[in-house]
Amino acid sequence: MAREFTSVGVVGLGTMGAGIVEVFARNGIDVVAVEISATAVERGRATLTGSTDRAVAKGKLAEADRDALLSRIDWQVGLDALHSVDLVIEAVPEHLDLKQRIFAELDRVCKPEAILATNTSSLSVTEISVATTRPNQVIGIHFFNPAPVMKLVEVVRTVVTSADVVADVEALCARLGKVDVTINDRAGFIANALLFGYLNHAVGMFESRYATREDIDAAMKLGCGLPMGPLALMDLIGLDTAYEILDTMYRRGGRDRRHAPVPLIKQMVTAGLLGRKSGRGFYTYERPGSPVVVPDEHTPVSTGAALADGARAIAKVGVVGSGTMATGIIEVFAKAGYEVISVTRGAEKSATVCESVKTSLNKGVVRGKLSEDDRDAALGRVTWSATLDHLADVDLVVEAVVEELSVKKALFASLDEICKPGVVLATTTSSLPVIDVAMATQRPADVIGLHFFNPAPIMPLVEIVQTIRTSAETAATARAVCAELGKTGVVCGDRSGFIVNALLFPYLNDAVKMLEASYSTADDIDYAMKLGCGYPMGPFELLDVVGLDVSLAIQRELYLELREPGFAPAPLLEHLVTAGYLGRKSGRGFRDHTKR
Ligand SMILES: NC(=O)c1ccc[n+]([C@@H]2O[C@H](COP(=O)([O-])OP(=O)(O)OC[C@H]3O[C@@H](n4cnc5c(N)ncnc54)[C@H](O)[C@@H]3O)[C@@H](O)[C@H]2O)c1
Repeated sequence: MAREFTSVGVVGLGTMGAGIVEVFARNGIDVVAVEISATAVERGRATLTGSTDRAVAKGKLAEADRDALLSRIDWQVGLDALHSVDLVIEAVPEHLDLKQRIFAELDRVCKPEAILATNTSSLSVTEISVATTRPNQVIGIHFFNPAPVMKLVEVVRTVVTSADVVADVEALCARLGKVDVTINDRAGFIANALLFGYLNHAVGMFESRYATREDIDAAMKLGCGLPMGPLALMDLIGLDTAYEILDTMYRRGGRDRRHAPVPLIKQMVTAGLLGRKSGRGFYTYERPGSPVVVPDEHTPVSTGAALADGARAIAKVGVVGSGTMATGIIEVFAKAGYEVISVTRGAEKSATVCESVKTSLNKGVVRGKLSEDDRDAALGRVTWSATLDHLADVDLVVEAVVEELSVKKALFASLDEICKPGVVLATTTSSLPVIDVAMATQRPADVIGLHFFNPAPIMPLVEIVQTIRTSAETAATARAVCAELGKTGVVCGDRSGFIVNALLFPYLNDAVKMLEASYSTADDIDYAMKLGCGYPMGPFELLDVVGLDVSLAIQRELYLELREPGFAPAPLLEHLVTAGYLGRKSGRGFRDHTKR
């Protein structure tokens, strides 16, 4: 029989604490909510009522239920109010000495059988537990932000946490409607260990002006389907909390440089830019605590005006290649009203590409997304050719041939001879340096990367890769074309992985390393990222879809270019590729797909 929890205490009513109080009170459990001062109690109460009022306004919570929820909460200053609760969850700032002091005090105040839990994200639960005389009743209960919404709870047991306590807390999580994963006490547990290297890297990109905040966030939302971009997420977490988590992970997690907080974070914390809770972080919010972003001095001017600035007129587009990407790109341009010349290496290939484009357009008609007339008009705009000479008078060329530098360079040298002056020459490469391709021509200022995502007709993102030789006019033209195509174009520098792959693949690689270290299972790691962070797929599901060979190749490129030790491909990934376990396409990757 699991222990019955009738009343719990929550210490610290900030970003997490207020949400945790709501979770318990919503599920019929009495809560003693404790803060350091009357002002802090009021702030916590305002956060909670703001959240429950929004739920009522959205029709997700009945008014009567809201009132019942609020009546279960006893707001108090000081820990003495916690003398009779069955469980306490501590959610004060991420400092070990503060937490140890609070646990020593809780040990004194709380009844002997009470369980003492910490919501720490990165500190050692073991070190916190030894501040009490009951370390076997101390456990980590790590909620995710926002606590009322995110389904995951990481239950962290130390070497001395009693098995009964673990079982009781697991049962409690189920009662709260949460999914728990139970793990040992290691810096960052599952989710933060995988998340924070990525967040810190994204801040580094912003700090070095590699891309704008809007473009970094849009890239990860649209390219990976994440619920929010990394900088918006940093604002939600709170920059002070994020700093402490990174700092602890750096010190506890083997001094991985990727966890050394990017200097900008500390500067922002010192300047009081803590994110949503202070009304300003990477973005500016309507008021402290509000989720509504308002324009500030860094907000891009309305896209219309910016696009007109120096963009060249594009009417005729050449697409070179006959693979998946070329096929998708032909469709995208033709549907958007451009005249398209498709160039392949032979009539047979052209016929195949033409068939694929037709099939895809027909699917659009069947699904009611495209009229028959529009389909016919789109097809009518495409000319099929097997000779590059037909590109003499196009305004833009998009190259999507095999991912081999020598092939791309030879092609660009030919385009340089054939195309009229002023043409924008774009490559869709996902891993080669665009500057290498540009320097194969006599007009590097006109060369740019247009990195479409697969499948091009569906994915809304295009990375616009500017080299150090790309002209402002070429970049403006690329932005205008993306807007015309109905895509979100994000501008970035010419570095391995651009934005999306550079941020995505090290995270996937870290997940493989975590599995390899036997810290958790592929299922639990996938759960943690989906339910704790809102990812559409867990890392192992995604690796199997992308292909382990492709993932390894990208990770190797990143490692070779950036020489970051933490980017070294996980040996397990290499072994799986060597063994021919490439993911869905070969029937087996991290999971066996032949049985499903
Ligand atoms: N922010 C997140 O996304 C997130 C997610 C999961 C876990 N966590 C963890 O939750 C904990 C709290 O983080 P947060 O982001 O909510 O911090 P926060 O700064 O938003 O809130 C901390 C609150 O604790 C209060 N406090 C400080 N000393 C206290 C004391 N002695 N007694 C009572 N209250 C006290 C502060 O007044 C403040 O309101 C940290 O351990 C953090 O790592 C944070």
